[in-house]
Amino acid sequence: MGLKVTGGAIAAATLHVLRLAAAAQPGAVQPVPGPMRDLVWGKLNFLHTTDTHGWHAGHLQESQYSADWGDYVSFAEHMRKRADDNGVDLLLVDTGDRVEGNGLYDASSPKGKYYYDIFRQQHIDIICTGNHELYQAATADGEHLRTVPNFKDNYIASNLDYIDPRTGERMPMAQRYRKFQTKHQKLDIVAFGFLFDFTGNANNTVVQPVRQTIKETWFQHAIREKTDLFVVIGHVGVRMQEFQDIFRAIRDQNPATPILFFGGHVHIRDATAYDSRSFALASGRYLETIGWMSVDGDLKSTEAPQAKTALRFNRRYIDNNLLGMYHHTGLDSKTFPTEHGRNVSAMIAKARDALDLDYAFGCSPKTYWMTRTPYPGEDSIYSWLEEEVLPDIAVNESRKDKPRLVIANTGAIRFDIFKGAFTRDTTYIVSPFLSVLAYIPDVPYAMAKKVIRLLNGAGQIMGPELMDNRFMAIPEQLAIHESIIHHQVPESGAHSDAQQKPLADGQDRIPLTEGYTTRDDIGSDGDDTIHAGINFYMVPNCIQAEVAFPSSGDPPETVDLVFLDFITPWVLMALRLNGGDYHRDDVQLYVEGTFTELMAGWIEKNWPRRC
Ligand SMILES: *[C@@H]1O[C@H](CO)[C@@H](O)[C@H](O)[C@H]1NC(C)=O
Ligand SMILES: *[C@@H]1O[C@H](CO)[C@@H](O)[C@H](O)[C@H]1NC(C)=O
Ligand SMILES: *[C@@H]1O[C@H](CO)[C@@H](O)[C@H](O)[C@H]1NC(C)=O
Repeated sequence: MGLKVTGGAIAAATLHVLRLAAAAQPGAVQPVPGPMRDLVWGKLNFLHTTDTHGWHAGHLQESQYSADWGDYVSFAEHMRKRADDNGVDLLLVDTGDRVEGNGLYDASSPKGKYYYDIFRQQHIDIICTGNHELYQAATADGEHLRTVPNFKDNYIASNLDYIDPRTGERMPMAQRYRKFQTKHQKLDIVAFGFLFDFTGNANNTVVQPVRQTIKETWFQHAIREKTDLFVVIGHVGVRMQEFQDIFRAIRDQNPATPILFFGGHVHIRDATAYDSRSFALASGRYLETIGWMSVDGDLKSTEAPQAKTALRFNRRYIDNNLLGMYHHTGLDSKTFPTEHGRNVSAMIAKARDALDLDYAFGCSPKTYWMTRTPYPGEDSIYSWLEEEVLPDIAVNESRKDKPRLVIANTGAIRFDIFKGAFTRDTTYIVSPFLSVLAYIPDVPYAMAKKVIRLLNGAGQIMGPELMDNRFMAIPEQLAIHESIIHHQVPESGAHSDAQQKPLADGQDRIPLTEGYTTRDDIGSDGDDTIHAGINFYMVPNCIQAEVAFPSSGDPPETVDLVFLDFITPWVLMALRLNGGDYHRDDVQLYVEGTFTELMAGWIEKNWPRRC
């Protein structure tokens, strides 16, 4: 377990007094105390969420992230009051992908029936769109009809248009940028809200590539506005080219103005600086993390550029649980929940109830990990799928004796399965997609068996279409490829003296919980809670099960090549590269039902009903 904290960081650590946390969702596990790093306040302060993907009920099975959106509403209320008391400013930011990936959003019909009203309860000052708001036309409609008006003046769509389904008229999804003043210090802020150069959207939106947007007249005008700060929020990784291009364009016009970036999309905690007067923060995923950024120094633009003092930036990745929120507000279970926060928690509980999200398909006998354990291995979710689930669910009665290769991409799984109840909610969490099992009948085995190797080859395969193989794997691994989340790769022998040092109130040797041990460009003191590190093991892009192969051990002549329909383009390309002239017309449905439904059915049949 690598724990990477520097000596100085731990000195500021204090320990929670163990107390029962009230609020969160009924049935959520209690948070576990850990040594904490405090928030550093500045003149201008931010709380940031991103890629929440419907997890607004929090993580009911993970103590570290068990607070819900209502708790965040209470937290923000207290933090705003503290800002008011001290005459400083606090702004809230959300950078998209609020939907898809959790029963609270996905399980209702229509999707998001409860989500829109829950999400809008938080007052957010700057908000933009993620790619997941745009895959389905209906989701983009919901965004335009509900979330944009819910956040009115605060919603920004710098490079995104919406097409009205009735008139066919193309219009900005929301205003292109926003100019406003902060409450207390009257700091002028020009804010933008971008989406990366996404191309997988339904045809009722248009995403304009960032490099084109920054040439537009309105943008060129906006970056010449007289302002104290620029705030660029975006559903964009903080190391992606899109942010670099925006930074360059603004900086070329504004040699000394502070530029703050809030990003997301790659699901990691990360921070960097593009120069000494800019700072960029990414705040993780799934409501595990509430990002904190503060800026101090001379923020008013009245001084001549050369007279500018150095700015001080701080960042903290707050684990989303009540003990941490108590710590950062100095409150306790009695004084922390606000009326509004309690109401929101109650709204969520009611929605979860109406959706029957706690309905248990079965009880998982143990925890299956995606990347915390080696693949193949007995605790690997992918080995479980390959050895137990795929052979059982990939059955078509009329072809059940036909030998087959069954291929699933690892990106089809989005979350670990914890020991205990596997509920309706869990199905959406683990596999939120509508993928089905498709197949090509009677493919020569010599050709079919080579497909998996090509799919698992590194980088961009194959042929003229330049399809990136990595998009079949999990997004977190994409970030690893770009060596962004180096901090999650365990260092052998790394060991901290955290456990041996006496902590603030004389208690020592509190066991560290496993969790984020973030190392970003600023250092290794970003996480608010000091954790024991988590291992990260790479997984292949795809896994494969051999089913109904001859017991003689002789290779079959032909096989049915069965695969999740999501990877059809890659499979066809791989076959073509091996001389197989197959096309989309050759691909048929293999089994009725989505992969997610089939997996839930398998669990219902094979795991005990109750824990
Ligand atoms: C978008 O696609 C749908 C379904 O494929 C089609 O009916 C509709 O006409 C398309 N709309 C536009 C604006 O192209
Ligand atoms: C909380 O809910 C109660 C009951 O529905 C309502 O009367 C009250 O106004 C709500 N308070 C806030 C702050 O939302
Ligand atoms: C079996 O495959 C055939 C041909 O693709 C398909 O029509 C049928 O629906 C499948 N059966 C089941 C039970 O999914």
